[in-house]
Amino acid sequence: MEQVALDPAFDFTGKAVIVTGGSRGLGRAIALGFAQRGADVVVSSRRAEACAEVVAEIEALGRRALAIPCHVGEWDGLEALIDGTLAAFGRIDVLVNNAGIAPVAESSLATSEALFDKTFAVNAKGPFRLSALARPHLAKVGGSIINVTSIGSLRPDPAYPVYAAAKGAMNILTRGQAMEFGPEVRVNAIMAGPFWTDIAKSWREDYDANAPSAMHRMGRPEEIVTTALYLASPQSSYTTGTIVRLDGGVIL
Ligand SMILES: NC(=O)c1ccc[n+]([C@@H]2O[C@H](COP(=O)([O-])OP(=O)(O)OC[C@H]3O[C@@H](n4cnc5c(N)ncnc54)[C@H](OP(=O)(O)O)[C@@H]3O)[C@@H](O)[C@H]2O)c1
Repeated sequence: MEQVALDPAFDFTGKAVIVTGGSRGLGRAIALGFAQRGADVVVSSRRAEACAEVVAEIEALGRRALAIPCHVGEWDGLEALIDGTLAAFGRIDVLVNNAGIAPVAESSLATSEALFDKTFAVNAKGPFRLSALARPHLAKVGGSIINVTSIGSLRPDPAYPVYAAAKGAMNILTRGQAMEFGPEVRVNAIMAGPFWTDIAKSWREDYDANAPSAMHRMGRPEEIVTTALYLASPQSSYTTGTIVRLDGGVIL
């Protein structure tokens, strides 16, 4: 893993960052991006072994990291994620609510109540609660929250209307919690377009991942990193309640 020269404007040395869904895809790239710039990182997802692999990559950079397995859709487990971070690093500077799922159902009629509830639980309800739990600790250090949402919330694909609605809810919660948590804690969202990650493998074959866009390609996970760093750093001190669209210029 490449060591990055520390730009003082984006030096996270001594800061503690939680990344949900940090074991793969965009979350892994974000976790490594913060670690490369000095942060201690908690890597969280449901699978402990997958988190441990990213922890090992971070430790190879000479940074501290910890795997805390957690199902973000289940509120009962979320306090342990906060408590575990505080026990290990003594502070929380950044919470990245990145974990997400986009399950497919044949139609709205074929969507079970369980699938609907799980989609909302992981993509919106859990992040809402985790942000609320992190808030007092973030407030002590002037920290910030970054929610990873989706341009699907602007143009719902017929295969994923519930996912789109949950990400839309997260856009609204970003603004609502920014109002509630400010001025001590800033809350922003990165509204992602199509990126090459495991989630893309689950897309239906006719999913329009190559919809007309200015960049004519899908994003690479590392291309989300600097936006996350910017939103977490003092360089964005007047930016809150903002939804940054990061989609290669997809035409909607
Ligand atoms: N890739 C895209 O094109 C795209 C576009 C728009 C938005 N997004 C959003 O970007 C975020 C990251 O997506 P990605 O593409 O990196 O997805 P991914 O490659 O499928 O990774 C998802 C991550 O979330 C974790 N996760 C899934 N369910 C979880 C749960 N219930 N509790 C805790 N962790 C859970 C996974 O680990 P475990 O399996 O170990 O739990 C994994 O670390 C998601 O919120 C997604 O909706 C992605």
